[in-house]
Amino acid sequence: MTNLNVAVSNEQTGYQNFSAGSFTFRRDEYFAYVDYPDGEYVMPIDDFLKALMRDIAWGFFYGTVNFDSVFGTINHYGNVDLFIGTQNEEYVNNGKDFMENFPSEELMEIFKAILSDWTIEGFDPFAAPQETGTAWGPKNGNNDEAISRTRQVAQRMIGMPGDTEIRSDETGYTVNRHFKDVDQSNPVVEAEPGFEDQIHGFNLWAHLSRSDVTWNPSIVSICKQSLLCPTTEEYILPVEHGNDRVEWFIQCSDEIVWEIKDGKSSKPRASLIMRAGDVACMPADIRHQGFSPKRSMLIVWENGSPEIMEKIKNGTVPRVGVEF
Ligand code: PHB
Ligand code: FE
Repeated sequence: MTNLNVAVSNEQTGYQNFSAGSFTFRRDEYFAYVDYPDGEYVMPIDDFLKALMRDIAWGFFYGTVNFDSVFGTINHYGNVDLFIGTQNEEYVNNGKDFMENFPSEELMEIFKAILSDWTIEGFDPFAAPQETGTAWGPKNGNNDEAISRTRQVAQRMIGMPGDTEIRSDETGYTVNRHFKDVDQSNPVVEAEPGFEDQIHGFNLWAHLSRSDVTWNPSIVSICKQSLLCPTTEEYILPVEHGNDRVEWFIQCSDEIVWEIKDGKSSKPRASLIMRAGDVACMPADIRHQGFSPKRSMLIVWENGSPEIMEKIKNGTVPRVGVEF
């Protein structure tokens, strides 16, 4: 059973109201309003929808997805906390924090219904601001096509016979305006006779230059528990990610500025400029948000170890990548 409530419709704007447990959600032309027992929290609607899109697409992600410094979700892998202010020291100190736990599928269903109703025609929450319309205004159609796009699953290594080949203009994935200088040629592979269909290389930069989404890491290689997740970034990561394990960033092109805050309190901890070639290890007790002035290529290196879940639960997960 869900607490989905689609019966109430906002008469002026045409958007539906929703509820999840003690929370109710409402939007108007510019803002999302979240009512909770201690008050009402307001966010710009574009920020809210872009963060909601990520939280849905990533299945509540690793650890905490802060839509901003106040509102967000904490993934317990099966159930999920929805909170206002619990990860913000000022809210906690002032007794304005509130949190409720939901079975993950239940909250996911409500989140998907909100995203579908509140995303209007022409607005794509996955796109860079210059490459989409605005989220503002009264209810006007939807963009279910954009918000329900799923990642393309490779059947074999990208570019090998039998796999989907997206690196051509015919597929609709054209080279992004910021990546016109990216070499589109394939590497030359000289296989020993008999191994021609087993050895292969492809141009990852050409592949990434055609990505039509921003801030959406996709797994392109899995080696045991090591997941390499490249992504193309432009403007602002729509969430402050409070990871529950160490994660690594490899900046492959251009530049991203990372704002690092304490995971629990939201207090500022560091500001980091990553340029092409820079590698950073994000500790497990912080939250981070990236700012990319032009489209850039980033590899997010995630730890998919099954044992890590147990370590997170009993508090023994390493806080940093290496202790010297
Ligand atoms: C992250 O939170 O680590 C993250 C999320 C999405 C990105 C990049 C990094 O595109
Ligand atoms: Fe992260």
